[in-house]
Amino acid sequence: MNDPTPGNGVSRRAFFQLSLGWLAGLFAFGASAVAAVRFLVPNVLFEPSEQFKADKPEDYPDGSVTFLEDERVFLIRKGNTFRCLSAVCTHLGCTVNRAENGFHCPCHGSVFDDQGTVKGGPAPRALTWFLVTLSKDGRLLIDKGQPTAPEQYFVL
Ligand code: FES
Repeated sequence: MNDPTPGNGVSRRAFFQLSLGWLAGLFAFGASAVAAVRFLVPNVLFEPSEQFKADKPEDYPDGSVTFLEDERVFLIRKGNTFRCLSAVCTHLGCTVNRAENGFHCPCHGSVFDDQGTVKGGPAPRALTWFLVTLSKDGRLLIDKGQPTAPEQYFVL
């Protein structure tokens, strides 16, 4: 009675409804499979290395405090020891300047002593010291991803 076409088992309307049902089912299965495979792939954020090479130790005179502008750090040499201090103010991230007996932030006036300790202004904490080592090619290797204690030196 449903089949208006004599001699044919399925009407055109029933065929389209059946096809649509199958397509919807396949789409749902495909979307679920894609979601399941995507779940297996971890969300990894590849960030650039925070290490960089400075010049060779002998390029920094004894007693020097050298500002490395691209990296926003101070490289400090005393005798045969090297340390690296962040020039990024811990208040809002301005670059601090070298001042007499320490560092000064030009943005809101924070003052740091030569150990990076806050001596005044709104900065909430000391400047960060970074690990200094020597690379295989004899240049100083600084890792801004590895903070160190202020009293930790790289000894040549
Ligand atoms: S950013 Fe240095 S004091 Fe505000």
